[in-house]
Parts: sequence; C-alpha cells; structure tokens
Amino acid sequence: MKKFEDAIDYPLITKEEIKKRNRELGQQITNDYKNKNENLLIIGILRGAVMFLTDLVKEIEIPVQIDFMAVSSYGNSSTSSGIVRIIKDLEEEVEDKNILIVEDIIDTGLTLKYISENLKARGAKSVRIATFLDKIERRKVDVRADYVGFNIPDEFVIGYGLDYAQDYRNLPYVAVLKHSIYE
Ligand code: PRP
Repeated sequence: MKKFEDAIDYPLITKEEIKKRNRELGQQITNDYKNKNENLLIIGILRGAVMFLTDLVKEIEIPVQIDFMAVSSYGNSSTSSGIVRIIKDLEEEVEDKNILIVEDIIDTGLTLKYISENLKARGAKSVRIATFLDKIERRKVDVRADYVGFNIPDEFVIGYGLDYAQDYRNLPYVAVLKHSIYE
C-alpha cells in the first residue's frame, strides 16, 4: 500500500497558509471584478486545478460561472513534452465573456500560453490567469499570471491537486516529492 510518508521529502506549504492565501486571492478577484456589470466565467484546467478552484471560488463574493477544460501536456513523466492538446473542451461559449483561467501550477508556461491564445481566438472579452503555484525559473515562454498563490522553487511538488503519476492529489497540503520516487 502506498503511503504519503514514503513519498514526502518535506512539507512546503501548510493547509493554513493555503486557506489564508485563497482568502486573499478571493478578495482581490472580488475587488477586480465587482464593478464590472458583466459575468465572470471561471475555467478550471483539469485535473490538477480542481482543489484550488473549489476553494478559491468560495472566497469570491460575486456570482461566477464555472466550466472545465482538459489538455494534455505532461503524460506521466516529470518533464514537459511541450505538446498541448485539448482532451475535453468547454461546455460554455466564451465569446464576449470575461474569463479567469484557474491552474494549479505554471511551469514552462506552454500549457497556459496555448489555452490563453485559444480562448482569445474564440473571442473572449478578457482573459486573466490565476495559478495556485508558479515556478517562474522554469519558464520557456512569456506567460504571467494575474493572481499567484505561491511562488515556489524548482522542486517536484505533490498535493492539493498536484500529482506524481496520478497519485497524491488528495494530500491536503503541498509537499516536495522524494527524489528517490522519480529518479
Ligand atoms: C500540469 C499543470 C499545468 C501544466 C503546467 O498539468 O496542471 O496544466 O502541467 O506545465 P507547463 O507550464 O510546463 O505547461 P498536467 O499535464 O500534469 O495535468 P494535471 O493537471 O491533470 O495534473
């Protein structure tokens, strides 16, 4: 049986820190959109963003709509392939809507560059990005998030939606994965 303890090198971000930061981001998003008399469509990128999205939207004090997209970028390896493909598309139309893309992590930026450009090409009125984690030093293309939970170093992290080979997403905080697990 797999155990969290066997995979975790050390905890990086605690449950309490996540809760506090989500509240701050929710307030910021509320303030930024509350005076726009228009709908905000939140688009979660499956699967990693699910935990962050469900907690974040509860901290936003204006009504929002929610939809999901799934793209492939990594497969089951720890390095980016650079290939982005839509696996599940949106149910909602994006034309003339204010969009907030919600991601768990930005690494090379390839995934979000593709998704943002795709949504703009479909006629979105505005496209902003909220990411739970940001690994700026890994960036290969110029993508900047408007809302960032935490900037983190270039370590393989698991938990709060983030996986290693599909495991560990339900760890309720963020931890650094032991090198021995993937080396
Ligand atoms: C992760 C993450 C982003 C992408 C970031 O997704 O959720 O979508 O990689 O990497 P990039 O900036 O280098 O493009 P992953 O493909 O692991 O899928 P998941 O969300 O289902 O875990």
